[in-house]
Amino acid sequence: MVDHLAGLRDGPVWRPMPDEVRAGLTRPLPAGESDVEAVYAAFQAGIQPYVTGNTHPRFFGWVHGGGNPVAMLAELLAGAMNANCGGRDHVGIAVERQVIAWAAAMLGLPAETGGVLLTGSSMANFCALLCARYRALGAAGRAGGIGAAKLVAYASAGAHRCVTGAMDMAGLGADALRKIPLDGAFRMDLGALKTAIAADRAAGYRPFLIVGTAGSVDVGAFDDLAALRDIAAAERIWFHVDAAFGALAALSPTYAPLLEGIADADSVAFDFHKWAQVTYDAGCLLVRDPALQYATFSQVTSYLAGAARGLAGGEPWPCDLGPDLSRGFRALKIWMTLSAYGTGRLGQVVEDSCALARHLAARVAASKRLEMRAPVPLNIVCFGIAGFSDAQTADLVADLQVEGLFAPSTTTIGNRLAIRVAIVNHRTERQDIDALVDEILIRARPS
Ligand SMILES: Cc1ncc(COP(=O)(O)O)c(C=O)c1O
Repeated sequence: MVDHLAGLRDGPVWRPMPDEVRAGLTRPLPAGESDVEAVYAAFQAGIQPYVTGNTHPRFFGWVHGGGNPVAMLAELLAGAMNANCGGRDHVGIAVERQVIAWAAAMLGLPAETGGVLLTGSSMANFCALLCARYRALGAAGRAGGIGAAKLVAYASAGAHRCVTGAMDMAGLGADALRKIPLDGAFRMDLGALKTAIAADRAAGYRPFLIVGTAGSVDVGAFDDLAALRDIAAAERIWFHVDAAFGALAALSPTYAPLLEGIADADSVAFDFHKWAQVTYDAGCLLVRDPALQYATFSQVTSYLAGAARGLAGGEPWPCDLGPDLSRGFRALKIWMTLSAYGTGRLGQVVEDSCALARHLAARVAASKRLEMRAPVPLNIVCFGIAGFSDAQTADLVADLQVEGLFAPSTTTIGNRLAIRVAIVNHRTERQDIDALVDEILIRARPS
Protein backbone atom coordinates (compact mmCIF):
# COMPACT_ATOMS: atom_id res chain seq x y z
CA MET A 1 0.00 0.00 0.00
CA VAL A 2 2.99 2.32 0.54
CA ASP A 3 4.05 1.60 -3.07
CA HIS A 4 0.47 2.16 -4.15
CA LEU A 5 0.43 5.63 -2.53
CA ALA A 6 3.85 6.46 -3.99
CA GLY A 7 2.69 5.55 -7.51
CA LEU A 8 -0.77 7.12 -7.49
CA ARG A 9 -0.01 9.50 -10.35
CA ASP A 10 0.92 6.65 -12.69
CA GLY A 11 -2.46 4.95 -12.45
CA PRO A 12 -5.95 5.94 -13.56
CA VAL A 13 -8.06 8.08 -11.24
CA TRP A 14 -10.86 5.51 -11.35
CA ARG A 15 -11.57 2.26 -13.17
CA PRO A 16 -15.08 0.95 -13.70
CA MET A 17 -15.38 -2.58 -12.33
CA PRO A 18 -15.51 -5.12 -15.18
CA ASP A 19 -18.52 -7.42 -15.03
CA GLU A 20 -16.36 -10.48 -14.36
CA VAL A 21 -14.70 -8.79 -11.36
CA ARG A 22 -18.08 -7.80 -9.95
CA ALA A 23 -19.36 -11.31 -10.57
CA GLY A 24 -16.24 -12.74 -8.92
CA LEU A 25 -17.20 -11.06 -5.66
CA THR A 26 -20.46 -12.96 -5.62
CA ARG A 27 -19.82 -16.35 -4.09
CA PRO A 28 -21.25 -18.43 -1.29
CA LEU A 29 -20.47 -17.72 2.36
CA PRO A 30 -16.99 -19.29 2.82
CA ALA A 31 -17.26 -22.39 5.02
CA GLY A 32 -13.64 -23.42 5.07
CA GLU A 33 -10.32 -21.67 5.56
CA SER A 34 -8.24 -20.16 2.77
CA ASP A 35 -4.57 -19.35 2.66
CA VAL A 36 -4.25 -15.69 3.65
CA GLU A 37 -1.80 -15.12 0.77
CA ALA A 38 -4.53 -16.23 -1.62
CA VAL A 39 -7.02 -13.91 0.07
CA TYR A 40 -4.53 -11.06 -0.23
CA ALA A 41 -3.97 -11.88 -3.90
CA ALA A 42 -7.74 -11.71 -4.41
CA PHE A 43 -7.72 -8.29 -2.76
CA GLN A 44 -4.93 -7.09 -5.04
CA ALA A 45 -6.62 -8.37 -8.18
CA GLY A 46 -10.28 -7.72 -7.53
CA ILE A 47 -10.62 -5.03 -4.88
CA GLN A 48 -7.71 -2.60 -4.69
CA PRO A 49 -7.87 -1.42 -8.35
CA TYR A 50 -11.56 -0.51 -8.23
CA VAL A 51 -11.86 1.96 -5.35
CA THR A 52 -13.30 5.47 -5.65
CA GLY A 53 -9.97 7.07 -6.56
CA ASN A 54 -10.06 9.98 -4.13
CA THR A 55 -6.42 9.46 -3.18
CA HIS A 56 -5.49 10.44 -6.76
CA PRO A 57 -4.37 14.03 -7.38
CA ARG A 58 -6.83 14.32 -10.28
CA PHE A 59 -9.91 13.38 -8.27
CA PHE A 60 -12.12 16.47 -7.98
CA GLY A 61 -15.58 15.05 -7.33
CA TRP A 62 -18.01 15.69 -4.46
CA VAL A 63 -16.05 16.55 -1.26
CA HIS A 64 -13.53 13.75 -0.79
CA GLY A 65 -10.36 13.98 1.26
CA GLY A 66 -7.14 12.44 0.00
CA GLY A 67 -6.09 10.68 3.21
CA ASN A 68 -2.49 10.50 4.38
CA PRO A 69 0.05 7.75 5.14
CA VAL A 70 0.31 8.54 8.85
CA ALA A 71 -3.42 7.94 9.26
CA MET A 72 -3.12 4.77 7.19
CA LEU A 73 -0.48 3.42 9.58
CA ALA A 74 -2.55 4.59 12.57
CA GLU A 75 -5.37 2.37 11.27
CA LEU A 76 -2.99 -0.58 11.34
CA LEU A 77 -2.06 0.23 14.95
CA ALA A 78 -5.70 0.71 15.93
CA GLY A 79 -6.60 -2.56 14.24
CA ALA A 80 -3.98 -4.40 16.23
CA MET A 81 -5.16 -2.87 19.51
CA ASN A 82 -8.80 -3.46 18.57
CA ALA A 83 -10.03 -1.10 21.28
CA ASN A 84 -13.75 -0.62 21.82
CA CYS A 85 -14.11 3.10 22.39
CA GLY A 86 -17.74 3.11 23.51
CA GLY A 87 -16.62 3.57 27.09
CA ARG A 88 -14.59 2.34 30.07
CA ASP A 89 -11.33 3.71 31.43
CA HIS A 90 -8.64 3.34 28.80
CA VAL A 91 -6.40 5.40 26.60
CA GLY A 92 -8.71 5.36 23.58
CA ILE A 93 -11.19 7.57 25.43
CA ALA A 94 -8.40 9.89 26.61
CA VAL A 95 -7.06 10.31 23.07
CA GLU A 96 -10.58 11.06 21.80
CA ARG A 97 -11.02 13.72 24.49
CA GLN A 98 -7.75 15.30 23.40
CA VAL A 99 -8.92 15.32 19.77
CA ILE A 100 -12.20 16.97 20.80
CA ALA A 101 -10.24 19.59 22.78
CA TRP A 102 -8.01 20.26 19.76
CA ALA A 103 -11.08 20.59 17.52
CA ALA A 104 -12.64 23.10 19.93
CA ALA A 105 -9.37 25.05 20.09
CA MET A 106 -9.14 25.10 16.28
CA LEU A 107 -12.56 26.76 16.05
CA GLY A 108 -12.19 28.99 19.10
CA LEU A 109 -14.80 27.22 21.24
CA PRO A 110 -14.19 27.05 25.02
CA ALA A 111 -11.82 24.44 26.44
CA GLU A 112 -14.69 22.69 28.27
CA THR A 113 -16.62 22.12 25.01
CA GLY A 114 -17.95 18.57 24.71
CA GLY A 115 -18.10 16.40 21.66
CA VAL A 116 -17.82 12.96 20.16
CA LEU A 117 -16.31 11.41 17.05
CA LEU A 118 -18.81 9.95 14.61
CA THR A 119 -18.75 8.51 11.10
CA GLY A 120 -19.17 11.87 9.38
CA SER A 121 -20.97 15.18 9.27
CA SER A 122 -24.27 13.54 8.37
CA MET A 123 -24.28 11.87 11.78
CA ALA A 124 -22.76 14.90 13.51
CA ASN A 125 -25.47 17.19 12.14
CA PHE A 126 -28.11 14.68 13.20
CA CYS A 127 -26.73 14.42 16.73
CA ALA A 128 -26.48 18.21 16.99
CA LEU A 129 -30.12 18.44 16.00
CA LEU A 130 -30.99 15.97 18.77
CA CYS A 131 -29.16 18.21 21.27
CA ALA A 132 -31.15 21.20 20.04
CA ARG A 133 -34.34 19.15 20.35
CA TYR A 134 -33.37 18.31 23.92
CA ARG A 135 -32.85 22.00 24.66
CA ALA A 136 -36.39 22.64 23.36
CA LEU A 137 -38.25 19.69 24.89
CA GLY A 138 -36.03 18.50 27.77
CA ALA A 139 -36.16 15.01 29.22
CA ALA A 140 -39.89 14.87 28.52
CA GLY A 141 -39.13 14.91 24.80
CA ARG A 142 -36.79 11.95 25.18
CA ALA A 143 -39.32 9.95 27.13
CA GLY A 144 -42.52 10.88 25.37
CA GLY A 145 -41.41 11.92 21.91
CA ILE A 146 -42.23 15.20 20.27
CA GLY A 147 -45.99 14.92 20.72
CA ALA A 148 -47.75 18.03 19.54
CA ALA A 149 -44.66 20.27 19.70
CA LYS A 150 -44.50 22.18 16.44
CA LEU A 151 -40.73 22.48 16.25
CA VAL A 152 -39.29 24.15 13.15
CA ALA A 153 -35.70 24.68 12.04
CA TYR A 154 -33.97 26.91 9.49
CA ALA A 155 -31.14 26.32 7.05
CA SER A 156 -30.19 27.84 3.74
CA ALA A 157 -31.47 26.39 0.47
CA GLY A 158 -27.83 25.43 -0.12
CA ALA A 159 -27.58 23.33 3.05
CA HIS A 160 -26.51 19.72 2.69
CA ARG A 161 -29.21 17.08 2.27
CA CYS A 162 -28.25 15.52 5.60
CA VAL A 163 -29.86 18.46 7.43
CA THR A 164 -33.19 17.59 5.85
CA GLY A 165 -32.47 13.95 6.62
CA ALA A 166 -31.75 14.77 10.26
CA MET A 167 -35.17 16.45 10.64
CA ASP A 168 -36.79 13.41 9.10
CA MET A 169 -34.86 10.92 11.26
CA ALA A 170 -35.49 12.91 14.43
CA GLY A 171 -39.21 12.56 13.86
CA LEU A 172 -39.72 16.27 13.28
CA GLY A 173 -40.46 15.86 9.60
CA ALA A 174 -38.46 17.11 6.64
CA ASP A 175 -41.08 19.79 5.98
CA ALA A 176 -40.32 21.36 9.36
CA LEU A 177 -36.98 22.46 7.94
CA ARG A 178 -37.50 25.88 6.43
CA LYS A 179 -35.13 26.25 3.52
CA ILE A 180 -34.27 29.92 3.39
CA PRO A 181 -33.46 31.33 -0.07
CA LEU A 182 -29.90 32.25 -1.02
CA ASP A 183 -28.58 35.72 -1.68
CA GLY A 184 -26.42 36.55 -4.72
CA ALA A 185 -23.35 35.08 -3.00
CA PHE A 186 -25.12 31.73 -2.30
CA ARG A 187 -25.46 32.57 1.43
CA MET A 188 -28.61 32.38 3.49
CA ASP A 189 -30.68 35.53 2.95
CA LEU A 190 -30.85 37.04 6.43
CA GLY A 191 -33.96 39.13 5.76
CA ALA A 192 -35.80 36.06 4.53
CA LEU A 193 -34.70 34.15 7.65
CA LYS A 194 -36.10 36.81 9.99
CA THR A 195 -39.34 36.93 8.01
CA ALA A 196 -39.68 33.13 8.16
CA ILE A 197 -39.10 33.02 11.92
CA ALA A 198 -41.67 35.76 12.53
CA ALA A 199 -44.21 34.04 10.26
CA ASP A 200 -43.69 30.71 12.02
CA ARG A 201 -44.10 32.22 15.48
CA ALA A 202 -47.27 33.99 14.35
CA ALA A 203 -48.63 30.67 13.05
CA GLY A 204 -47.96 28.90 16.35
CA TYR A 205 -44.77 27.05 15.40
CA ARG A 206 -41.79 26.84 17.69
CA PRO A 207 -38.45 27.80 16.09
CA PHE A 208 -35.74 25.75 17.83
CA LEU A 209 -32.72 25.54 15.54
CA ILE A 210 -30.80 27.62 13.01
CA VAL A 211 -28.23 25.72 10.94
CA GLY A 212 -25.52 27.88 9.40
CA THR A 213 -23.46 26.39 6.59
CA ALA A 214 -19.73 27.03 6.53
CA GLY A 215 -18.72 25.78 3.11
CA SER A 216 -21.78 24.78 1.11
CA VAL A 217 -21.52 21.55 -0.80
CA ASP A 218 -22.38 23.07 -4.18
CA VAL A 219 -20.10 26.09 -4.26
CA GLY A 220 -18.26 26.39 -0.91
CA ALA A 221 -20.27 29.42 0.27
CA PHE A 222 -20.21 30.55 3.91
CA ASP A 223 -23.34 31.86 5.56
CA ASP A 224 -22.81 35.03 7.61
CA LEU A 225 -22.26 33.09 10.83
CA ALA A 226 -21.87 36.16 13.03
CA ALA A 227 -25.24 37.47 11.85
CA LEU A 228 -26.87 34.06 12.32
CA ARG A 229 -25.43 33.88 15.84
CA ASP A 230 -26.97 37.26 16.66
CA ILE A 231 -30.36 36.29 15.23
CA ALA A 232 -30.27 32.97 17.10
CA ALA A 233 -29.36 34.75 20.35
CA ALA A 234 -32.10 37.36 19.94
CA GLU A 235 -34.66 34.64 19.13
CA ARG A 236 -33.33 32.22 21.79
CA ILE A 237 -32.78 29.50 19.22
CA TRP A 238 -29.99 26.87 19.15
CA PHE A 239 -27.26 27.90 16.70
CA HIS A 240 -25.57 25.01 14.91
CA VAL A 241 -22.95 25.22 12.16
CA ASP A 242 -22.45 22.57 9.49
CA ALA A 243 -18.79 23.12 8.71
CA ALA A 244 -18.22 19.69 7.16
CA PHE A 245 -15.17 20.80 5.18
CA GLY A 246 -15.21 24.58 5.80
CA ALA A 247 -14.07 24.14 9.41
CA LEU A 248 -10.53 23.61 8.19
CA ALA A 249 -10.52 27.19 6.89
CA ALA A 250 -9.84 28.07 10.54
CA LEU A 251 -6.23 26.98 9.95
CA SER A 252 -5.71 29.27 6.96
CA PRO A 253 -4.83 32.91 7.66
CA THR A 254 -6.54 33.97 4.41
CA TYR A 255 -9.84 32.14 4.92
CA ALA A 256 -10.26 32.00 8.71
CA PRO A 257 -12.25 35.28 8.74
CA LEU A 258 -15.06 33.48 6.85
CA LEU A 259 -15.72 31.54 10.05
CA GLU A 260 -16.32 34.57 12.25
CA GLY A 261 -19.13 33.68 14.63
CA ILE A 262 -18.51 29.92 14.73
CA ALA A 263 -16.79 30.23 18.11
CA ASP A 264 -20.17 31.19 19.60
CA ALA A 265 -22.10 28.29 18.10
CA ASP A 266 -24.00 25.91 20.36
CA SER A 267 -22.73 23.05 18.23
CA VAL A 268 -20.56 22.39 15.19
CA ALA A 269 -20.32 19.41 12.84
CA PHE A 270 -17.26 18.82 10.68
CA ASP A 271 -15.09 16.09 9.24
CA PHE A 272 -11.43 15.27 9.66
CA HIS A 273 -11.75 12.97 6.63
CA LYS A 274 -12.22 15.85 4.21
CA TRP A 275 -9.73 18.75 4.15
CA ALA A 276 -7.81 17.49 7.21
CA GLN A 277 -6.79 14.46 5.09
CA VAL A 278 -7.50 11.83 7.77
CA THR A 279 -8.57 8.49 6.30
CA TYR A 280 -12.30 7.67 6.31
CA ASP A 281 -14.22 7.84 8.46
CA ALA A 282 -13.59 10.66 10.91
CA GLY A 283 -16.57 12.93 11.66
CA CYS A 284 -16.65 15.26 14.65
CA LEU A 285 -19.44 16.82 16.69
CA LEU A 286 -18.71 19.67 19.12
CA VAL A 287 -21.30 20.76 21.70
CA ARG A 288 -20.69 23.89 23.74
CA ASP A 289 -22.63 22.57 26.75
CA PRO A 290 -21.23 19.09 27.59
CA ALA A 291 -23.88 18.48 30.25
CA LEU A 292 -26.63 19.02 27.70
CA GLN A 293 -24.95 16.61 25.27
CA TYR A 294 -24.81 14.02 28.05
CA ALA A 295 -28.44 14.63 28.93
CA THR A 296 -29.39 14.16 25.27
CA PHE A 297 -27.88 10.70 24.86
CA SER A 298 -27.14 9.08 28.23
CA GLN A 299 -28.98 6.00 29.44
CA VAL A 300 -28.78 4.08 32.70
CA THR A 301 -28.43 0.31 32.54
CA SER A 302 -26.96 -2.12 35.03
CA TYR A 303 -24.77 -3.90 32.48
CA LEU A 304 -23.12 -0.60 31.48
CA ALA A 305 -22.88 1.07 34.86
CA GLY A 306 -19.77 3.11 35.59
CA ALA A 307 -17.63 2.52 38.66
CA ALA A 308 -15.38 4.55 40.94
CA ARG A 309 -12.45 2.16 40.35
CA GLY A 310 -11.28 -0.28 37.72
CA LEU A 311 -11.94 -0.55 34.02
CA ALA A 312 -15.56 0.55 34.44
CA GLY A 313 -14.38 4.01 35.57
CA GLY A 314 -13.61 7.08 33.51
CA GLU A 315 -17.08 8.49 32.87
CA PRO A 316 -18.52 10.19 30.88
CA TRP A 317 -18.29 7.52 28.21
CA PRO A 318 -18.78 8.21 24.51
CA CYS A 319 -21.78 5.84 24.47
CA ASP A 320 -23.54 8.50 26.57
CA LEU A 321 -22.53 11.31 24.22
CA GLY A 322 -23.90 9.89 20.99
CA PRO A 323 -25.78 6.91 19.56
CA ASP A 324 -22.95 4.35 19.25
CA LEU A 325 -21.94 1.82 21.89
CA SER A 326 -19.36 -0.26 20.04
CA ARG A 327 -16.92 2.17 18.44
CA GLY A 328 -13.46 1.75 16.95
CA PHE A 329 -10.41 3.79 17.90
CA ARG A 330 -11.21 6.51 15.33
CA ALA A 331 -9.39 9.13 17.40
CA LEU A 332 -5.95 7.59 16.91
CA LYS A 333 -5.61 8.39 13.21
CA ILE A 334 -6.77 11.97 13.87
CA TRP A 335 -4.39 12.36 16.83
CA MET A 336 -1.47 10.99 14.81
CA THR A 337 -2.27 13.11 11.74
CA LEU A 338 -2.52 16.32 13.77
CA SER A 339 0.61 15.40 15.75
CA ALA A 340 2.64 14.57 12.64
CA TYR A 341 1.64 17.46 10.37
CA GLY A 342 0.48 20.18 12.76
CA THR A 343 -2.07 22.85 12.03
CA GLY A 344 0.47 24.85 10.02
CA ARG A 345 0.82 22.20 7.33
CA LEU A 346 -2.93 21.50 7.22
CA GLY A 347 -3.64 25.23 6.95
CA GLN A 348 -1.21 25.30 4.02
CA VAL A 349 -3.25 22.56 2.32
CA VAL A 350 -6.30 24.82 2.60
CA GLU A 351 -4.36 27.80 1.23
CA ASP A 352 -3.00 25.71 -1.65
CA SER A 353 -6.39 24.17 -2.55
CA CYS A 354 -8.00 27.60 -2.69
CA ALA A 355 -5.11 29.02 -4.76
CA LEU A 356 -5.65 26.18 -7.24
CA ALA A 357 -9.38 26.95 -7.31
CA ARG A 358 -8.59 30.59 -8.09
CA HIS A 359 -6.24 29.45 -10.84
CA LEU A 360 -8.96 27.25 -12.33
CA ALA A 361 -11.45 30.13 -12.12
CA ALA A 362 -8.98 32.38 -13.93
CA ARG A 363 -8.51 29.81 -16.70
CA VAL A 364 -12.28 29.48 -17.08
CA ALA A 365 -12.65 33.25 -17.20
CA ALA A 366 -9.92 33.49 -19.82
CA SER A 367 -11.57 30.97 -22.15
CA LYS A 368 -14.32 31.86 -24.60
CA ARG A 369 -15.59 28.24 -24.54
CA LEU A 370 -16.01 28.04 -20.76
CA GLU A 371 -18.33 29.99 -18.48
CA MET A 372 -18.39 30.40 -14.70
CA ARG A 373 -21.64 29.31 -13.06
CA ALA A 374 -21.03 30.44 -9.45
CA PRO A 375 -18.65 32.54 -7.37
CA VAL A 376 -15.54 30.81 -6.00
CA PRO A 377 -15.33 31.73 -2.32
CA LEU A 378 -13.18 28.74 -1.37
CA ASN A 379 -12.03 25.53 -3.09
CA ILE A 380 -14.96 24.67 -5.39
CA VAL A 381 -15.34 25.82 -8.99
CA CYS A 382 -18.58 25.32 -10.93
CA PHE A 383 -18.39 26.02 -14.62
CA GLY A 384 -19.95 25.02 -17.89
CA ILE A 385 -19.18 24.84 -21.58
CA ALA A 386 -20.81 27.47 -23.75
CA GLY A 387 -23.47 25.90 -25.94
CA PHE A 388 -23.37 22.51 -24.23
CA SER A 389 -26.65 20.93 -23.15
CA ASP A 390 -26.93 19.28 -19.75
CA ALA A 391 -26.73 15.87 -21.44
CA GLN A 392 -23.49 16.81 -23.22
CA THR A 393 -22.01 18.09 -19.95
CA ALA A 394 -22.98 14.90 -18.13
CA ASP A 395 -21.46 12.81 -20.93
CA LEU A 396 -18.21 14.73 -20.90
CA VAL A 397 -17.82 14.31 -17.13
CA ALA A 398 -18.67 10.61 -17.33
CA ASP A 399 -16.16 10.16 -20.19
CA LEU A 400 -13.38 11.77 -18.16
CA GLN A 401 -14.19 9.46 -15.25
CA VAL A 402 -14.53 6.27 -17.31
CA GLU A 403 -11.28 6.94 -19.16
CA GLY A 404 -9.57 7.33 -15.78
CA LEU A 405 -8.26 10.80 -16.59
CA PHE A 406 -10.04 13.03 -14.08
CA ALA A 407 -12.96 12.71 -11.69
CA PRO A 408 -14.90 15.95 -11.39
CA SER A 409 -18.59 15.68 -10.46
CA THR A 410 -21.61 17.71 -11.53
CA THR A 411 -24.26 19.80 -9.84
CA THR A 412 -27.14 22.00 -10.89
CA ILE A 413 -26.71 25.76 -10.62
CA GLY A 414 -29.55 27.97 -11.79
CA ASN A 415 -31.32 25.01 -13.48
CA ARG A 416 -28.26 24.10 -15.56
CA LEU A 417 -25.86 21.25 -15.07
CA ALA A 418 -22.38 22.48 -14.17
CA ILE A 419 -19.03 20.73 -14.03
CA ARG A 420 -18.05 20.87 -10.38
CA VAL A 421 -14.40 20.73 -9.33
CA ALA A 422 -13.77 20.51 -5.58
CA ILE A 423 -10.08 20.69 -4.73
CA VAL A 424 -9.62 18.89 -1.42
CA ASN A 425 -6.67 16.54 -1.97
CA HIS A 426 -3.25 17.71 -0.73
CA ARG A 427 -1.65 15.88 -3.69
CA THR A 428 -3.31 18.05 -6.36
CA GLU A 429 -0.96 20.43 -8.16
CA ARG A 430 -1.29 23.24 -10.70
CA GLN A 431 -0.35 20.84 -13.53
CA ASP A 432 -3.44 18.75 -12.65
CA ILE A 433 -5.74 21.76 -12.97
CA ASP A 434 -4.13 22.85 -16.23
CA ALA A 435 -4.39 19.33 -17.65
CA LEU A 436 -8.09 19.22 -16.75
CA VAL A 437 -8.85 22.52 -18.46
CA ASP A 438 -6.81 21.57 -21.54
CA GLU A 439 -8.61 18.24 -21.82
CA ILE A 440 -12.05 19.82 -21.45
CA LEU A 441 -11.21 22.46 -24.06
CA ILE A 442 -10.15 19.75 -26.54
CA ARG A 443 -13.43 17.91 -25.98
CA ALA A 444 -15.47 21.14 -26.08
CA ARG A 445 -14.29 22.06 -29.58
CA PRO A 446 -17.22 22.52 -31.92
CA SER A 447 -17.22 19.54 -34.32
C1 LIG B 1 -21.60 20.86 3.75
C2 LIG B 1 -21.69 19.38 4.02
N1 LIG B 1 -22.40 18.94 5.05
C3 LIG B 1 -22.52 17.64 5.35
C4 LIG B 1 -21.87 16.70 4.58
C5 LIG B 1 -22.03 15.25 4.94
O1 LIG B 1 -20.82 14.79 5.47
P1 LIG B 1 -20.49 13.25 5.54
O2 LIG B 1 -20.36 12.80 4.11
O3 LIG B 1 -19.17 13.19 6.27
O4 LIG B 1 -21.58 12.55 6.25
C6 LIG B 1 -21.11 17.09 3.49
C7 LIG B 1 -20.44 16.11 2.63
O5 LIG B 1 -19.82 16.44 1.65
C8 LIG B 1 -21.00 18.48 3.20
O6 LIG B 1 -20.28 18.93 2.17
